[in-house]
Amino acid sequence: MLVLGLETSCDETAAAILKDGDTLLSNIINDQIDIHSEYGGIVPELAGRSHNERVHRVIKESLQKADLQLRDIDLIAVTMGPGLIGSLLVGLNTAKGLSYGLRKPMIGVNHLEGHILAIYLQKKVKFPFIALVVSGGHTELYRVSGFGQYKLLGRTRDDAAGESFDKVGKMLGLPYPGGPAIEKLARNGNGNSHKFPRAHLEKGSLDFSFSGLKTSVRTFLNHRQQDSTITVTDEDISAGFQDAVLEVLVAKLIMACKREKLSRIVVTGGVASNGALREAVKKEAQCWGFESFFPDPIFCTDNAAMIACAGYYKFVRDPSSSSLFKELDAKASLSIE
Ligand code: KG4
Ligand code: ZN
Repeated sequence: MLVLGLETSCDETAAAILKDGDTLLSNIINDQIDIHSEYGGIVPELAGRSHNERVHRVIKESLQKADLQLRDIDLIAVTMGPGLIGSLLVGLNTAKGLSYGLRKPMIGVNHLEGHILAIYLQKKVKFPFIALVVSGGHTELYRVSGFGQYKLLGRTRDDAAGESFDKVGKMLGLPYPGGPAIEKLARNGNGNSHKFPRAHLEKGSLDFSFSGLKTSVRTFLNHRQQDSTITVTDEDISAGFQDAVLEVLVAKLIMACKREKLSRIVVTGGVASNGALREAVKKEAQCWGFESFFPDPIFCTDNAAMIACAGYYKFVRDPSSSSLFKELDAKASLSIE
C-alpha cells in the first residue's frame, strides 16, 4: 500500500511516500527559514502563501524520488490540525484536489499523532509508553496505550519549549530557529556560570511553564549590558538556559513513567533533535531501568513521513475513517485524546 503524506501545518512544506507502513520511499522537506528568519519567527500569512507556491513542486519531487506516478498512490494522508489555519488549508485543499482527481481516499491526521508515531518509521515500540512531544508549538506528555489511544498527562501552561528556545535565540541575536543555534553555543558554555530558574510548578504537577525562564534570561541580559564586570558569555547563557529547560523536561518525564507505572519512553518533536536532551533522557531513564526511544532528528522536526505513517495506521485500523475529497475541515486546535 502506497501512502502519500502531506504536511503543511507550520513552516515546512513536506511530502513523503511510505510503502506498507514501514518502507520510506521518499521524504521531501522544504523549510521556509529563508522567508521567516528576517522576522525572527513565523509570519503566518507568509507561511500560507509560501506553502501554496511550493506544495506541488514538493509532491512532484517526492514522486520522482520514489520513482512513482500520482496514479500509483493508494491513500493520501494529510495533516488536518493543529496548526496555522492558513497553512493547514493549503495541504488539506491540495489533498482534496488529488483525492477528487485520482478517485483515491484521503485521511486526516492529527499533527501530534504524527509526531508520536514518527518512531514507528524506525522502531515498533511496544505499547503502552509515555510520549513527550516537545516542539515549537507543543510541550505535552501523553500516556500512549495503543494506536489512537492517547491520554494527556501534562502540558505547558504558557510557552512551548521550542518557542522558548526560539525567543531566547532572538534575544541573543541568533538566527531563526533558535533551538539548533542555542544547542551549538551551549556546547562551549558553562551552564553553572549563571543558573536560571526551573519551573517545577505545584508538587506532583506534570504541567510545564517556560515563560518565567524566558523573562529571567531577558532580565539577566539587561543586567549584563549595564554591568561590565559580569563575565558570563552568550555560550554560558545558552548552556544555562538549555540546562534549565532539559532538567524540567527530564524530571517530568520520569515522574510520568512512575505515576503511570510504565517503563518505555518516546521523545519526539523538533526539540527532541537536541543532542543534550537525548543524552539527558537516556541517562536518567537508564538510572530508573526505563527504555527510551527517539526518532532520528530528521523525523523529529516537522516532516510528512510521520503523517504518512500515522495515516497508514489510522487507515489499517479503520478504513472508514478515510473518505473521498470533501468531508475534512482544517482545525487550528485539535486534541488527540
Ligand atoms: O516539530 P517542529 O519542527 O515544529 C513544530 O511542530 O513546532 O519543531 C520546531 C521547534 C523550533 O522551536 C526549534 O527551535 C526547535 O523545534 N528545535 C530545537 C532543535 N532543533 C529544532 N530545539 C532545541 N534544540 C534543537 N537542536
Ligand atoms: Zn510539529
